[in-house]
Amino acid sequence: MGRKVYKSLPDMSKARNRVDLPLIKAEEILVPERVKNFAKGRTYLIKTFGCQANVRDSEIMAGYLEKAGFCKATDETSASLVIVNTCAVRENAEEKVYGEIGKFKANHTRDKSFVMAVCGCMMQEEKAAEKIVSTYPYVNIVFGTHNISNLLNLIDEHLGRNKDIVDVISYPGDIVENLPSIRLDPYKAYVNIAYGCDKFCTYCIVPYTRGRERSRQKEEIIAECKQLVEEGYQEITLLGQNVNSYGKDFHDGTSFASILEEVAKLGIPRLRFMTSHPWDFDDKMIDIIAKYPNIMHFIHLPVQSGSDDVLRRMGRRYDQAQYLDLVRRIKERIPDCALSTDIIVGFPDETEEDFQATLDVCEKVGYDSAFTFIYSPRKGTPAAAMKDDVDAATKHERFTRLVKVIEKSVTAHAEAMIGKTYKVLVDGPSKKDENLLSGYTESNKLVHFVGPSYLKGKIVEVKINQSHTYSMIGELVDDPLLIMAKEVGRELSNEPLAKAYFEAKRAYEEDESASKLRQQIEDAQKEMVAYANKGDDEGHAKAKKAYLEAKTLYENHPVVKNFETAKEDLEPLLVQVASLINERKE
Ligand code: 5AD
Ligand code: SF4
Repeated sequence: MGRKVYKSLPDMSKARNRVDLPLIKAEEILVPERVKNFAKGRTYLIKTFGCQANVRDSEIMAGYLEKAGFCKATDETSASLVIVNTCAVRENAEEKVYGEIGKFKANHTRDKSFVMAVCGCMMQEEKAAEKIVSTYPYVNIVFGTHNISNLLNLIDEHLGRNKDIVDVISYPGDIVENLPSIRLDPYKAYVNIAYGCDKFCTYCIVPYTRGRERSRQKEEIIAECKQLVEEGYQEITLLGQNVNSYGKDFHDGTSFASILEEVAKLGIPRLRFMTSHPWDFDDKMIDIIAKYPNIMHFIHLPVQSGSDDVLRRMGRRYDQAQYLDLVRRIKERIPDCALSTDIIVGFPDETEEDFQATLDVCEKVGYDSAFTFIYSPRKGTPAAAMKDDVDAATKHERFTRLVKVIEKSVTAHAEAMIGKTYKVLVDGPSKKDENLLSGYTESNKLVHFVGPSYLKGKIVEVKINQSHTYSMIGELVDDPLLIMAKEVGRELSNEPLAKAYFEAKRAYEEDESASKLRQQIEDAQKEMVAYANKGDDEGHAKAKKAYLEAKTLYENHPVVKNFETAKEDLEPLLVQVASLINERKE
């Protein structure tokens, strides 16, 4: 195509700005005619890199595309429209993106109407957008994290003008509601509670790529979560770059603890949240996690480094002692709370002593899991301009030592699980072995076990038999059919018709006048038999009259009538239950 329209390009100084207040927009979703026509019979594919925020953005983009009429592609080669959603947090994440874009050259060669778009955090970096369009001539649309809700218009513009469109907006960012979405998982959902980040840790590009920290209105979050509960979701993860500072931008006392509590009260079986910043983590939050059994006892609490000097230069706002004190308070209130973390090795000028302090924290906390990274300079961040005398070999060697220390505590936690039974939310067949099912425990441990596929989306009890350190092998405790029968029973008792039936039944059993009439009918029947045996026709006729009178009164009794109607109404539901069981067994 060759002709490019640069509508706007990223600018780090604008991205740093935090002056204006965010707008809340909730526009109607309009599909341009040209996009609607193009989408007919065409398929889309979204490739996602990076964190959960990107995963959620991809679900929203899928929502827009399906509203336009595109269908999800079943494989890469057949896709008519591909979006690569990029990550900028470390250099190696960016390298993967280049490889991914390269894969789709063949689609362009095969199909001249093929549309390729690249978006996400990496596009928010200065020069990245230009580099992408100049290196890959078949990339038609480049946009960033702030204009996802404009996706259909960007496609329209590209189709209409027959040009490549680059539109990356650098500004602190607004909040867009009324977003469509196609969730990737039918049982586990991500819900954004806040966007962006204002912490500006010196190594991190996120505050520039995702803009200012802006909390979603509580009502919007609750409405989204409520709907998920009604749709049968089993797990919600509340998302934010720093969930613990949720609501601080409202300046009205709203806090993360309050939104966490309100969502927990909605009755979602599992509630998680990420990511937590130790600086904003207060005791009220710990109390709420301890109070609600459906808030999982698992906290991802990035420490980044154990050295006070490095933490200060990272701009993390806490020192080792404060971090360890927070861990102590968490463990005191929630003794079985699993902790995971993020650690950066080789921050500029990190000394051996600094590194030892990181190992020291790991030993003291005994993490259940940890993500470890070698520091990657991000252009435009303060740390990228810092002097760094640590050579790459030393950084790698420290990284290896760190992984070993982490592995010790991960192994210890995993081995302590052997012989015990845990609740596992079943994801479906294991990715490695489709004869096994896999799922996660409440403390986020991956478990594989043998079981029927219809247990997908159910929370089941699994006894752990074996540890593979990062995953466990277990066995299903209950019989799968029993699990299903219980599940169907639970679902059934929540049906309005079943509820009406049980209510009518209780009223019927408790009503004295109805039970008196029942007794009268029984007595009259007995008398009729006795008179008939004696051959006393007169007596029999008298008893029969009493019987018929009682029967009429009984049949017209409002409580009895109500119960009979409820029973009749329930019948079609019971037929459905039978087919439900058969369906799930398949
Ligand atoms: N280099 C290495 N790791 C980084 N992270 C963020 N920025 C960088 C960087 N420049 C890590 C942090 C963060 C996680 C999501 O990625 O540990 O918590
Ligand atoms: Fe990046 Fe720090 Fe914000 Fe996390 S808290 S997104 S590490 S700036």
